[in-house]
Amino acid sequence: MAIAYNKRSCDCGTLRSSDIGKEVILAGWINNYRDHGDNLVFIDLRDRGGLTQCRFNVDTDPEATKTARTLRKEDVIAVRGEVISRGENINPKLATGEIEVSIHEVDILNKSLTPPFEVADHVEANEDLRLQYRFLDLRRGPMQKIMVARHHLLQAFRHFFYNEGFLDVETPILTKSTPEGARDYLIPSRVYPGEFYALPQSPQLFKQLLMISGYDRYMQIARCFRDEDLRADRQPEFTQVDLEMAFVDVDEVLDVVERSVAYVWKEIAGIELPVPFKRMDYDEVMRDYGIDRPDLRFDMKLIDVSEIAGKTEFKIFQNAIKAGGVVKAICLPGGGEMTRKETDALTAEMQGIGAGGLPLCKVGKGQEGKPELQTGSAKFFTGDLVPQLIQAMKAKAGDIIFFAAGEFLEVCKHLAWLRTTLAERRGMIPKDKWEALWVINMPMFEWDEEEQRWFAMHHPFTMPRDEHLEKLESDPAAVRAKSYDVVLNGSELGGGSIRIHRLDIQNRIFRLLGIDEAEAHRKFEHLLNALQYGAPPHGGLALGLDRIAMLLSETDNIRDVIAFPKTQKAYCPLTECPSPIDEKQLNELGIDLAPQTKAKMQAKEK
Ligand code: AMO
Repeated sequence: MAIAYNKRSCDCGTLRSSDIGKEVILAGWINNYRDHGDNLVFIDLRDRGGLTQCRFNVDTDPEATKTARTLRKEDVIAVRGEVISRGENINPKLATGEIEVSIHEVDILNKSLTPPFEVADHVEANEDLRLQYRFLDLRRGPMQKIMVARHHLLQAFRHFFYNEGFLDVETPILTKSTPEGARDYLIPSRVYPGEFYALPQSPQLFKQLLMISGYDRYMQIARCFRDEDLRADRQPEFTQVDLEMAFVDVDEVLDVVERSVAYVWKEIAGIELPVPFKRMDYDEVMRDYGIDRPDLRFDMKLIDVSEIAGKTEFKIFQNAIKAGGVVKAICLPGGGEMTRKETDALTAEMQGIGAGGLPLCKVGKGQEGKPELQTGSAKFFTGDLVPQLIQAMKAKAGDIIFFAAGEFLEVCKHLAWLRTTLAERRGMIPKDKWEALWVINMPMFEWDEEEQRWFAMHHPFTMPRDEHLEKLESDPAAVRAKSYDVVLNGSELGGGSIRIHRLDIQNRIFRLLGIDEAEAHRKFEHLLNALQYGAPPHGGLALGLDRIAMLLSETDNIRDVIAFPKTQKAYCPLTECPSPIDEKQLNELGIDLAPQTKAKMQAKEK
């Protein structure tokens, strides 16, 4: 009689020494196979629960052992046997390591082809192959651990927000373009040929409408879609913990969000994140760290040395300052030991990200033990400029000072990269340290030189700070928004804002952004209309769930925390999509491919 695989006693991670003597049924995949050649065969049986060692003995169970000898890795079997002690041979690394199951009967439920890579904790295969065979990759222990952690993460967020009175409401996936600023993924309509739905870049407009409907305190674990350049922490399809609240200002949103993050960290990782989180103005953060999501686990701030550098004869410094730019510097403690080869390589990397070069000088010990500047750009600092620079940088003998000169945002970009890169490479980032930060009061607008117009820095529904409303038209650059980003260890976990709930202010913003009335109505009619029917003050935020999962799983690859992700080129090697569709479907949608597209596709086929 076949083993009742549908009546398993437990999973493969459950049995302990207290179960010794019990008869059990287990089922799973062959993780490992060891034939001792004489009378014994050992098989590690795997399922989601873990591993159990199965022991086959030719003397007592010749039939089962004969079958066992035909088995290979990843075959699926059911076994029946007795839990016995491992005696001396306990495996302390395994939860079930005190016992093994002496198998009396085995059924092969299905054979497996030889997998293209080993289903093991450590895998050599390249990522494309892992993604192509994702169903095998997901069998691996580390992947299962991440998927289980992600499940708990979702549960923890839901639990927290439900307890705080948030209402879970689903918003449409087939919708109209939303204003997050990336490119939309579009879905052609069959019923309305030539017209398109857009996949939501976020539920932004719908959650605002829900506030107008009176559904105060909305939350949703929402899928979002953005056709943008992918990076290690970006996917075209990702998940947000999306929130919106009515009758709140900045403090209320920050309070509930930081408590949710602290709750989740405690639940999932057992880590206490002290609340309230530190808050810094965007301007302060850019000044000190050159980036809007600084990693505060280490120091090395960017120091503005324009005044001192402007007095040197160094043309690069002088020109930057003359052109309205700045000279900033960072001081790397103990960096004086860097060799010429190392600093040359760093200079080349800086050039790779667009810097002109990397002026630097080392701090040494001069007469009477006083610090002095050596090598590189040291020669440009003469007289009093030497102690002035050393004091400004709080530098000590043995340190190295790196400079960047030019336009403010360029200098920020280059030194922020250098700061993080040096800290990572030199092991300056303490492990097990968590530094959370709110970056608040971002500029409302950024000027686009190419297009010669203002853009909304967050999105065009963000409320300016009350005291800046009067400056909207006269000094847009000075207007700061009621916006906020939450940053943890240099990763942007989420962002949001208080929204504009009054049509008159919304229209002023559109005007400034060069969105004329007709365009505004075409794009956002539903929101603009709703604002006229009793819109309460409201605001919210969205947390990037995948990024949170990355931090908690200690991976810097977003694909590791998504069951079926896309590659860096937005491709799915498993389902081989995107993929061509047949002529008939195109016709139904009223879509005719451009001749150059057809030619490209034909060339690809060949
Ligand atoms: P925002 O665009 O800042 O805000 O997105 C919120 C958070 O979502 C995550 N995120 C991503 N994660 C993975 N892949 C991507 N391509 C990606 N893009 C964004 C980030 C980010 O902080 N509607 C507003 C929120 C609001 O104002 O309430 C919004 O979507 O962690």
